Amino acid sequence: MKRISLLCVLALAACCPKNNTPVYLDPSKPLEERVSDALGRMTIEEKVAMTHAQSKFSSAGVPRLGIPELWHTDGPHGIRPEVLWDEWDQAGWTNDSCTAFPALINLAATWDRDLAHLYGDCIGQEARYREKDILLGPGINMGRTPLNGRTFEYMGEDPYLAGQLVVPYVQGVQSNGVAACVKHFAVNNQETRRTATNSVVDDRTLYEIYLPAFKAAVVDGGAWAIMGSYNLWNGEFNCHNKRLLCDILKGEWGFDGVVVSDWGGCRDDDQAVTNGLDIEMGTWTNGLTGAASDSYSHYHLARPYLERLRDGRATEEVLNDKAARILRTVFRTSMSPEQHFGSFTSPEHFAAARKIAAEGIVLLKNDGVLPLNIPQGGKILVVGENAYKMMVVGGGSSNLKTKYEIIPLDALREAFAGKAEVVWERGYVGDVTTDYNKVITGQDLSEKRTAGQLKADALAAGKDVDCIIFIGGLNKSAFQDNEGTDRKDIVLPYGQDELIEALAGLGRPMAVVNISGSPVAMPWANKVGAIVQGWYGGSESGHALADVLTGAVNPSGKLPFTMPKSLIDGPLKTERQYPGIREEGKQWWQEYYDEGVFIGYRWYDTQNIPVDFAFGHGLSYTTFEIGKASVKRSGAGWKVSATVTNTGKVAGAEVVQLYVSDSEASVARPAKELKGFEKVYLNPGESKKVSFTINKEALSFFDADKHEWVAEPGEFHALIGASSADIRADLPFTLK
Ligand code: GLC
Repeated sequence: MKRISLLCVLALAACCPKNNTPVYLDPSKPLEERVSDALGRMTIEEKVAMTHAQSKFSSAGVPRLGIPELWHTDGPHGIRPEVLWDEWDQAGWTNDSCTAFPALINLAATWDRDLAHLYGDCIGQEARYREKDILLGPGINMGRTPLNGRTFEYMGEDPYLAGQLVVPYVQGVQSNGVAACVKHFAVNNQETRRTATNSVVDDRTLYEIYLPAFKAAVVDGGAWAIMGSYNLWNGEFNCHNKRLLCDILKGEWGFDGVVVSDWGGCRDDDQAVTNGLDIEMGTWTNGLTGAASDSYSHYHLARPYLERLRDGRATEEVLNDKAARILRTVFRTSMSPEQHFGSFTSPEHFAAARKIAAEGIVLLKNDGVLPLNIPQGGKILVVGENAYKMMVVGGGSSNLKTKYEIIPLDALREAFAGKAEVVWERGYVGDVTTDYNKVITGQDLSEKRTAGQLKADALAAGKDVDCIIFIGGLNKSAFQDNEGTDRKDIVLPYGQDELIEALAGLGRPMAVVNISGSPVAMPWANKVGAIVQGWYGGSESGHALADVLTGAVNPSGKLPFTMPKSLIDGPLKTERQYPGIREEGKQWWQEYYDEGVFIGYRWYDTQNIPVDFAFGHGLSYTTFEIGKASVKRSGAGWKVSATVTNTGKVAGAEVVQLYVSDSEASVARPAKELKGFEKVYLNPGESKKVSFTINKEALSFFDADKHEWVAEPGEFHALIGASSADIRADLPFTLK
């Protein structure tokens, strides 16, 4: 309805004599003129109404002026099913089953900027078609701990990788007249007590690790919206944190869009007004429980705000800034000069989902088991719940009602139809739930056998097969890959380690596929022939995995995070670092980022701690050589070049990675830091030269005292590699 009425208004405006069309309704007028014209026509009450929710996922427009409401939607992986006015549960519509795109960690593992844009464009089309104006994603919080329940929704442990991929994603989304709402700003790196923990982070760590991807999204990507996070940073809640939102985001970065609170993340009447929040969303705000009949007028930026405006405690100038940002968002989305109609669950979207999912699958190890080479009439045993369990439903706000989801077992049976028998043994019972927010998968995961029987059946089935493929890992249930809870350890649950070892003991060719959104320990890594990191691939996950296992797609994914051998090898050694401690006289939990910039490979590399698989690692069914590397001055910076050659027998892609290392510095710096990457697709025998430019910023660390980036003269190294641990060229150069 909204779109038709709006088109009528715009058409009306277009057909009326130009001089009668109000500027704000005239799509040919510059954006800022439309904003100030609309602002000048609005009452205080209308401006205040826009600054807070009117339903679970909408905030008010200006009905009197024909300015539409803003409709917000989860999530980063697809368009959430419609919910009732003030419920989390789905409304039961029959026209809102979406394309489920891969989890963002799966996109990150592609290391492919073009696919990030394709992803953003497709999901933006789906949002526009569903008449949603603000997509509540992408999430780009750094992987400080592998236990974070929302690791699957984010883009890994490195700010440069996340920054390079979030920019095209945002641009893709916004090319459809939909605002990307980049989240959760900022230093929200865990789910444990996420609404009651104060992250204590020094400025150098903040500027080097936790801000860069957000800055890229805003400054390079032009993001139109940012979501404040639930936690506190240096004592203020981030949905109204003055330093974060006013000084850094809107001040230093010049952000002209809207700051949206996380749902229920706004906690204070006065700070909500003065500290940079523009739209307050969520429920039970202001201590409300049980949703009083007029709960939305109780919001901090509702009746309390009007009272402050009337008694002089709040200024209309600040209100006008909020309203202007909201109007700007409306004129960029539903009232955009370019008409967008989007599209929904198209074959192109499912094809994109399958391509992105497959391109992000990481071949961690392969002694020749893969690609599968099964004789005609052969037999494959698939073991593991994740070969069968649908994963799109669940996990929190990224839960989706999708048109379909292809499970790995069906895709493998499809791929081997007429060629080989594919039998399945569950092997263990993990999570039997099949619904979330009243979205159901329709599967029956009930199981009568005991754990012992399940294991015995799997082992018995594995005796006479050509190959065993174990497909296990994690799932979207509590304390796994799930919003609202963190994991307790990185050990595989449900007795999978023992089962994998027992199956390996059968002596058959064996591949293990770990379906997860976060790192897991792999103590059996030396006992199986091949290991694949599969992700939550969305609607086409099964096809994507079968494409890689059969060789239809040559794997080219690279790990966006480190796979440590065990949790205790990581940088978070104390309660005060994670999950936080209580302190005398402080209302909230306190969490100290004592490890500073040393997270992920920045920690393991610098400390020389062996890991199972390194950041940036990923193999192929072909081989690559990286050679002829050189570094030379180029203008104010340096140009680093290398030639990559496909020295194998099949076409494939390599991600050439550039790391920079500072030989000597006045501060402790990581052994190396990612400052460039290029994904190169090559046919057998083909070579390509890749070049990177290193500028002074890439050599700098953030000097908190001077509040500026500093590159100290001295020797640096440009390290070219196929992963952070597989460096093929070390090129020293000197900054005078
Ligand atoms: C949730 C999440 C956020 C989501 C929002 C709306 O609590 O933290 O990512 O977009 O609320 O569902």
